[in-house]
Amino acid sequence: MAIYSALQIRRIAQNAEALFSIFRRIRPTDWIDRAATDLDAWVGRELSRLGVSPSMAGYNGYPANSCISANDVVVHGIPTTRPFARGDIFTLDIAGQGGGWMADSAWTFAMPGASERAVRTIQAAWTVLRAVAGIVRSGISVREIAECAEEAAGRAGASVVPQFAGHGIGRELHEAPQIPFVTNGASGRGGYRLDAGEVISIEPVITLGVPVVACGEDGWDCRTDDRSPAAHFEITVVAENDGCRVLGLGGMRGTDLPARPVFG
Ligand code: MF3
Ligand code: CO
Repeated sequence: MAIYSALQIRRIAQNAEALFSIFRRIRPTDWIDRAATDLDAWVGRELSRLGVSPSMAGYNGYPANSCISANDVVVHGIPTTRPFARGDIFTLDIAGQGGGWMADSAWTFAMPGASERAVRTIQAAWTVLRAVAGIVRSGISVREIAECAEEAAGRAGASVVPQFAGHGIGRELHEAPQIPFVTNGASGRGGYRLDAGEVISIEPVITLGVPVVACGEDGWDCRTDDRSPAAHFEITVVAENDGCRVLGLGGMRGTDLPARPVFG
């Protein structure tokens, strides 16, 4: 449970900003008829131009620069050569390291023609993210964060996929504490309270269907059992005494996230 200095947090924020600069330039329609492997290669080139190295490549044997999870693939999709098509939604998840500091971010995009249900799923994922960002501050417990996410998902008619938690981040991609977004995931260390200067990822993974997923034999490509679409936004925030600040995105306050995704 590391507490980072203002200077260290600025460095993490610089890397987060690099990832957002990539998301900001993605126009989904540009990728219709192009493969996820092409998008992944583009992400690799952009990261290197920005002086950020892809942390996922080789992580537990992961074979690409980014995770690209389309439609019913919930998380950890290995980019495939299947061309994107109208109606697809996809989550691009990128982890990057620059100057010894990590950033980790995910964004879900919709192609024109995406189903109303898929679009509602994306909006629900944003709404849950925004609810959590609105309450994180020093002194909040891991369990309170989980309760907030679970309740916000319920209000949106959605569910949090329980397997996937947020995490501390900074020197390493995944640091303590784990940040579950379901209360039954918060049983063990749920009483742990964040200190000012702790940096965590907020990344609730959301579906409108039954939140049961199965991953491939290699552990990647996790899909919903009922084939419902899933969506997932991930931001990094620093806990402060009076709330939290989003790293990247110009350092906006957690309470200032707008009602709709800021790009995509
Ligand atoms: N954003 C993902 C997470 O926090 C990054 C996983 S890295 C991977 O779980 F290599 F495992 F995909
Ligand atoms: Co993460």
